[in-house]
Amino acid sequence: MNKFSLCILTAAAALALPALAAGQAAPTGNVANGKRLFEKQNCYYCHGTGGQGGRDGARIAATALNVQAVIRYVRQPTGGMPAFTDKIISDQELTDIYAYLKSLPAAKAPKDIPLLDQLREK
Ligand code: HEC
Repeated sequence: MNKFSLCILTAAAALALPALAAGQAAPTGNVANGKRLFEKQNCYYCHGTGGQGGRDGARIAATALNVQAVIRYVRQPTGGMPAFTDKIISDQELTDIYAYLKSLPAAKAPKDIPLLDQLREK
């Protein structure tokens, strides 16, 4: 390795470290593939096409869980969700789904939805 490439590496590491320290290192998931898998693996069937939640599944769009927690949950769910082993869906595929879920908008507060806002006592 020459001095130049060493310098580039050091600079890259220096840029990456603060993001890691802040816990913001975005998982390297592929959003488009995650969306495809979310549909292919039928996650959408219970959680809604946009992860907004449905009759059976919880809202998981913009989940507050981190990627490890989501993978752990999908492997060993605690509630009414069926388990998905790594034969059915790999960790990398779940990381893609995670990136997709994180790309979705979070739920709006009732006050930000005009019809619901009208129902609030003021
Ligand atoms: C048969 C319906 C069903 C399918 C299919 C399904 N889920 Fe779920 N999922 C649920 C239910 C129900 C819960 C809530 C469990 C409970 O608390 O009872 C849940 C919970 C979750 C949670 C935890 C939410 C939280 O904040 O605690 C995650 C993450 C999740 N599902 C991801 C997925 C992914 C990813 C897939 C596709 C690989 C998937 N689910 C497929 C029904 C389903």
